[in-house]
Amino acid sequence: MSTAPQETGFDHSLAFLSDPYRYISSRCRELGSDLFETRILLQPAICMSGPEAAAVFYDPERFQRAGAAPEPLQATLFGKGGVQGLDGAAHRERKALFMKVVEPERVAALAGFVASEWWSAARRWQDEDRVILYQEVVQLLTRAVCTWAYVPLAEDEVDKRSRQMARLFDEAANSGAGHLRSRYARRRLEKWLARLVGDIRDGRYAVPRGCAAEAVANHVDADAQLLPVEIAAVELLNVLRPTVAVAVFIVFAAHALHAHPECRERLGGDDPDYEDAFVQEVRRCYPFFPAVAARVRVDFDWAGVHFPEGRLVLLDLYGSNRDPRVWEAPDEFRPERFLDRTPGAFDFMPQGGAEPYGNHRCPGEGIAVTLMKQAVGFLVRHLGYQVPMQDLRLDLSRLPALPCDGFILSDVRVLE
Ligand code: HEM
Repeated sequence: MSTAPQETGFDHSLAFLSDPYRYISSRCRELGSDLFETRILLQPAICMSGPEAAAVFYDPERFQRAGAAPEPLQATLFGKGGVQGLDGAAHRERKALFMKVVEPERVAALAGFVASEWWSAARRWQDEDRVILYQEVVQLLTRAVCTWAYVPLAEDEVDKRSRQMARLFDEAANSGAGHLRSRYARRRLEKWLARLVGDIRDGRYAVPRGCAAEAVANHVDADAQLLPVEIAAVELLNVLRPTVAVAVFIVFAAHALHAHPECRERLGGDDPDYEDAFVQEVRRCYPFFPAVAARVRVDFDWAGVHFPEGRLVLLDLYGSNRDPRVWEAPDEFRPERFLDRTPGAFDFMPQGGAEPYGNHRCPGEGIAVTLMKQAVGFLVRHLGYQVPMQDLRLDLSRLPALPCDGFILSDVRVLE
């Protein structure tokens, strides 16, 4: 018999969507429980928060991802047939592709391309009255990741492709026109990349071994078959799209630098441990990915609650990263907390929990952390700028909750 607190009412999808980052943790607090039962997406669901719940959620014996992601997210953010919806051996096989693409030397090569994009963008910004950092970083990351991945991108395509890329993560959860734009962007991008995969396989476009485009085009799954071109396009986009999305974290880092000038001073001192701690605190505090979804694989009981096979379960990432049982003064921005603490697999989950090889944790944490540190170093050491009057509030009803004006810089000067 289930003893989880229940939310009454027909459906709570709107409540979730209007406050996606705090919906689960605030209900858990009100109900005095790490989990509660509700109805979301017109079906019964269990929402959970905190490290103990996360350890259960990431047990592959108990949960599966097949059938978990709602169609509107598959048609925009994730794509259909990609690694996110696989389980067991099929997942491990596919995940190996991503783990190879993000090996440290590959990440270092990506950072090299991103560095030169920062310099040329910043020199251009000196001639502008003001620039919107978010838009600029989306563009510079699109250029760099395409160069790195060997995805050809002509200069006159940069604007279009970077907008399409951003629409996948920036407008997916939008109601109405934004969501439709996001769906359309995915169709265009997948078509573009499917053509590229075909060209690589047919020898019309030569790529070096090991680059992302080659690794995806020539990846063979457990059945010893190449991926269907449509799925290969989804997986190549699974490398490009989230790398461009690091722009969101970079804007959050710029926001944190502005909001906490004492950190900026310390970051100028060339202390790599502090730089790392600062970036981790940005990832812990700022609202990017609210929650992840899975379905119960086989019936089980936990914490006195019955989890029936097939039940939709949501794990709170944002709230778990601010769980007061784990984090002292969780709402305060304190990079120092990371100086003497290595976070565990289930208490710090900005990009998912558990471990990435055999589970669904994000393979791109090395990319995110490296590009964030590089951006912070550039902003602190090589860029003079003002942050003019603007709306710096984070809109927590939006996914992701970027600063309302995209973080505007003015009076940009390059400090060589
Ligand atoms: C999965 C967040 C960057 C590739 C995930 C998950 C989250 C996440 C929350 C789901 C974890 C789960 O289902 O349990 C982020 C954030 C990023 C980021 C906030 C910052 C921009 C990257 C990068 C890559 C990447 C740079 C490039 C390789 C993926 C893939 C998955 C994934 C392929 C699916 C993994 C699987 O299902 O096994 N990410 N990610 N992500 N991420 Fe990231």
